Amino acid sequence: MSIGRLNHVGVATPSIEKSVALYRDLLGATKIHDPIELPAQGVRVCFVDTPNSQIELVEPLGENSPIHGFLAKNPAGGQHHICFEVPDIHEAAADMEAKGAKVLGAPRIGAHGTMVIFVHPKDMGGVLVELMESPQVGH
Ligand code: CO
Repeated sequence: MSIGRLNHVGVATPSIEKSVALYRDLLGATKIHDPIELPAQGVRVCFVDTPNSQIELVEPLGENSPIHGFLAKNPAGGQHHICFEVPDIHEAAADMEAKGAKVLGAPRIGAHGTMVIFVHPKDMGGVLVELMESPQVGH
């Protein structure tokens, strides 16, 4: 595989509403999407558009949310993951494993409605990397 465009930067937060206010009032973001809940992933997310990418605000949803651990170490929230597009998620997952990088779980539907995987930060220099199948044109 080869790396595609930066789709978004994931930012964990204890409060999407408080973070939205920062991006809107401090940084001047004007395109802020409605928050959506992804119960299967234990998160509530909200996308903030920037001219060339997006910020994905991620708030824990439910007792077993994977975000609780991150917020325990970073109570104010912080940068959580970065997401690059790839043309084919199953090819990307196989390629990561063939190269010895740990893929966390099976490919699953992500916040943009296309398939995603996560690559363990221990194999990516401490950065949690999400790979996301590119949305279809016009999506
Ligand atoms: Co993401």
